[in-house]
Amino acid sequence: MEVLRNVAGLRSACDEARRHGARVGLIPTMGALHEGHLALVDRAAAEGASFRVVTIFVNPLQFGEGEDLDRYPRTLEADLIACRERGADAVFVPEPGAMYPPGFQSHVEVTSLTETLEGHFRPGHFRGVTTVVAKLFLLAGPCVAIFGRKDYQQLLTIQRMVEDLGFPVEVIGHPVVREADGLALSSRNRYLGPDERRRALGIARGLAAADEAWRAGERDADTLRRVARAPVAEAFDRIDYVEVVHPESLAPGEGLLERATVLVAAHLGATRLIDNLELGVDPPPVRAPAAGARAAPRP
Ligand code: PAJ
Repeated sequence: MEVLRNVAGLRSACDEARRHGARVGLIPTMGALHEGHLALVDRAAAEGASFRVVTIFVNPLQFGEGEDLDRYPRTLEADLIACRERGADAVFVPEPGAMYPPGFQSHVEVTSLTETLEGHFRPGHFRGVTTVVAKLFLLAGPCVAIFGRKDYQQLLTIQRMVEDLGFPVEVIGHPVVREADGLALSSRNRYLGPDERRRALGIARGLAAADEAWRAGERDADTLRRVARAPVAEAFDRIDYVEVVHPESLAPGEGLLERATVLVAAHLGATRLIDNLELGVDPPPVRAPAAGARAAPRP
């Protein structure tokens, strides 16, 4: 596995791979890799990528003032081992100066889609994301790029950018990878103390409750919002949003819905977690017990 430290290295490795007939697979991350990230490396192979590049860059441009840029987990040695074990062909680990040369002042911005939800609570966040991802796409060249549905609004925003600006990139969205109890894997989960880890399940419970209501025929937007919100409100210190929106436009749901995605962002102490579920489409967040599994026999 090659470790690429500068932009010229990434560009020439991808060019070279294509010259040899490979399909390039790009997996952008900020490191502190977990199974949610590594599933994207597998997915790239399943999408036919024969040269898979993981990028690891804690992008300062997408963190706001007072956010966790300084304490964002950095576990490069373990990340490189995990990428190698997972069969990545290259890892791109640029210095901040490599991505943002002195005097940097160019940005890529997707407008309407980024005004609500995360964009509302994290002003400038998506501009930082689209700017760095556009730069990675330009360096990698024609490729398939894998993103998680965990960052649902981010995925839609990147798809919009690719469509609007005509990047030669096929964007694939991979389902949210969860712990067995339903908690979505996140680099930020490691901030949680044991009590917070238990309370964090409030989000999966809220999503599961909305999903059950949907599967039972509930279609009213406000009812679904209330059902999803209650378990989050009970467990979390502060809610940024529990919203029910159209899965593609992210417009707030009103009245009776045909399709819906529930999105949640909430705080436990200093840790902010996000999650989402497309109702009736995504699997329920808490896995049902395996078929044939029985309760322990009574004494
Ligand atoms: P990061 O938070 O490291 O996530 C990298 C990729 O992994 C994203 O596409 C994210 O959606 C995906 N991911 C994280 N947890 C996941 C989970 N539990 N299940 C499925 N996918 C998961 O997202 C970013 O970095 C940055 O914004 C980035 C796109 C790299 C730009 O800096």
